[in-house]
Amino acid sequence: MLDGRTTLSKFLIDTLDRRPGPDAASGLSALLIDVAASIKTIAAALTRGALGGQHGSAQSVNTHGEEQKKLDLVTNEIFLQHCEWDGLLAGMVSEEMDEVYAIPETYPRGDYLLAFDPLDGSSNIDINGVVGSIFSVLRRDGDREGDARGAADAAAFMRPGREQVAAGYAIYGPSTMLVLSVGNGTHGFTLERDVGNFVLTHSDIRIPEDSCEFAINASNERFWEPPVRRYVQECKDGRTGCRAQDFNMRWIASMVAEVHRILMRGGVFMYPRDFRTPEMEGRLRLLYEASPMSFLVEQAGGLSITGRERILDVQPGALHQRVPVILGSRHEVERIQRYHGEYDRGEDKPFTSPLFNERSLFLPETEA
Ligand code: AHG
Ligand code: MN
Ligand code: MN
Repeated sequence: MLDGRTTLSKFLIDTLDRRPGPDAASGLSALLIDVAASIKTIAAALTRGALGGQHGSAQSVNTHGEEQKKLDLVTNEIFLQHCEWDGLLAGMVSEEMDEVYAIPETYPRGDYLLAFDPLDGSSNIDINGVVGSIFSVLRRDGDREGDARGAADAAAFMRPGREQVAAGYAIYGPSTMLVLSVGNGTHGFTLERDVGNFVLTHSDIRIPEDSCEFAINASNERFWEPPVRRYVQECKDGRTGCRAQDFNMRWIASMVAEVHRILMRGGVFMYPRDFRTPEMEGRLRLLYEASPMSFLVEQAGGLSITGRERILDVQPGALHQRVPVILGSRHEVERIQRYHGEYDRGEDKPFTSPLFNERSLFLPETEA
């Protein structure tokens, strides 16, 4: 007996392995236990901090042209090692690998596809700030002839987020938590470090529908679209503005930490479309950041949109595709979506004139 406590394995066996009928998700619980093992190993490595000798740059760049930290590469390797051998995966995709990682020939292959961001918020590493890991699991589409147990290619991952069978993140803060959904709500487990168990501490998390807290990197304000400027300006206007209430702002530079706060107490997180780099749709990556986080947020009663559509309905076109992200408390996200609609239909009077019209100083800039 477990003193009435629910460990991650008990939760997964109860939820997945004992699920009767054609819905049975064979092997998924074992795969998630391996993901959890990666997370525990990463938590241990991070706890050593500068003493682990793994701080600083790896002197390399990833597919996005971003400098890789040593720990970006170490945590990527930890995920690969814990998940490649178990015969459950057909391929893996990571922020830190250009192509699909093929399961080595020495191991059997399975039906699942794993996409992950091994270390989210890695600019926080050297300042001992909060970081995380994010993961997404799809069941591969078995319809294609001869595909059954071959290596998955990039096309296998081109599926909208609503088809995920599991998604989650780890947050490495004062305590390590694993927050997970297999499609029946969003649940949080806290790592009991001395024992090594994840214990269910936050069952069926619900995001409050209303909130007075928003998170956005305000240094990008001059590149935002008018509907986002309008929303943020109204929040900043506070009690004396049209919202008639004061708002608070946060920015931690780790999507995991922002989403975790929103799951715990509500709020809105935005990394919206902007005009800094017009060819980029947004900052965050669809397959291993936006999709899994949107799944968790929706499973907790929140909403997650690009501004104009539901992120879980976005059809991916490339492994490392970026997407604008606006997620959190339902009523606030609905309001921001409405502002985008009004702007697109030209009904957004205060923000199409006079400060925000074509001759305005506030027009979106692009970098030279
Ligand atoms: P990563 O460390 O995996 O590259 O992701 C960082 C992301 C995201 O977690 C965070 O919200 C955002 O980048 C921070 O961006 P800014 O540096 O522009 O604030
Ligand atoms: Mn990230
Ligand atoms: Mn990362």
